[in-house]
Amino acid sequence: MQLTDIADDLDSTLYTEKQIHDKIAELAARIDADYAGETLLLVGVLKGAVMVMADLARALTLPIEMDWMAVSSYGSGTQSSGVVRILKDLDTDLTGRKVLIVEDIIDSGLTLSWLRANLESRGAASVEICALLRKPKAAKVDVDVRYAGFEIANEFVIGYGLDYGEKYRNLRGIGVLAPHVYGD
Ligand code: XMP
Ligand code: MG
Repeated sequence: MQLTDIADDLDSTLYTEKQIHDKIAELAARIDADYAGETLLLVGVLKGAVMVMADLARALTLPIEMDWMAVSSYGSGTQSSGVVRILKDLDTDLTGRKVLIVEDIIDSGLTLSWLRANLESRGAASVEICALLRKPKAAKVDVDVRYAGFEIANEFVIGYGLDYGEKYRNLRGIGVLAPHVYGD
């Protein structure tokens, strides 16, 4: 069996592992300062946010708890519709909790704006958002992301939790997929 190096499928690396970790350290320092003296509930959005969650959680010095949700957007093709279905719900009661949603990427913003409203409706004391990547040109709805990492162009990116057909999540950096992967 021939093994292939998934890094060969990258057209270009947008952010290296080091750049990502530096950015997460920056975000973590702000979060530590903003929530000093509190216990924060981190809510990771499966599956893309697993790497961000793992690194952010360990960069924080605050006491934290972690919980996870899986959601899927109804809609045609690859377009997010804003109608969201919960595939896996939280185990935690949010009443009175300070919640930070941890996401890999905000594209149209429809998923996160729905998710924030949903968590707020459960009686959380506050719900803020941390997202490593954001595509401002793809925004369909304005989402207030208190802790935003990098702004990227409107192109499909993979790595560091982000997938194409469930692959490439284990790349350490983030990059754009090479055209040869799409076929032809
Ligand atoms: P919204 O609702 O903001 O959707 O349009 C955000 C979700 O869409 C996925 N997404 C991507 N996944 N590379 C990926 O691997 C991308 O470039 C990309 N853009 C959007 C992702 O699941 C995110 O949570
Ligand atoms: Mg995601």
